[in-house]
Amino acid sequence: MVSRRDLARRLESVADFEEPSVSLEQYLTPAEVAAHLLHFASTRDDLAGRTVVDLGTGTGMLAIGATHADPARVVGIDVDPDALALACENERRVGGSRDVEWVRGDATRPPLAVSGATVVSNPPFGAQRRHADRQFLEAASELASVSYTIHNEGSQEFVEAFAADHGGAVTHAFRTTFPLERRFSFHTEASTDLEAEVFRIEWR
Ligand SMILES: C[S@@+](CC[C@H](N)C(=O)[O-])C[C@H]1O[C@@H](n2cnc3c(N)ncnc32)[C@H](O)[C@@H]1O
Repeated sequence: MVSRRDLARRLESVADFEEPSVSLEQYLTPAEVAAHLLHFASTRDDLAGRTVVDLGTGTGMLAIGATHADPARVVGIDVDPDALALACENERRVGGSRDVEWVRGDATRPPLAVSGATVVSNPPFGAQRRHADRQFLEAASELASVSYTIHNEGSQEFVEAFAADHGGAVTHAFRTTFPLERRFSFHTEASTDLEAEVFRIEWR
């Protein structure tokens, strides 16, 4: 695994959505946040030699970043074909130690026969579609032995309760900041900092 700083530098060249969809909550995971999550996962031995699945891969930021940690396989799933085309372009630009398998499909009902994977995901927070992040967690509980998911501030109680109800446990949690530039018409500020939380869950 490259250093966190080198990974963040490489991921800086991942291009953002050109015409982000409001209903799909399309925004880029900042390179710094992706590098932090992936570097942490690497130190826990959750990436090397593993199947890594990025649910709601969008620009491919997390999937492409995961290829720098010697995984056995990386799959990026998104429902939006334009996002997957962008993710492919980003993969060509950034490179990595292996190819990502880009899959078009519903990440809440992933079209994959995989178990014991490591899931990484920055799901829709549910601002546009209530409980969107709950459905992504459900999918993670089915595919993964360990998952890393990013949620909006104040989600810890919900995520811990969800994990416990689905045979899992939150082992680590950390806060992070998303610097977001104005992208949707309902955003009133030119840029804003969004506080978010990352959870590592072990599923049994
Ligand atoms: C927060 S954004 C993506 C973040 C991504 N990690 C990135 O940095 O580009 C959420 C993504 O989930 C995708 N998405 C939303 N609902 C989905 C669903 N049901 N199945 C698959 N993808 C979905 C959106 O198209 C979007 O790309």
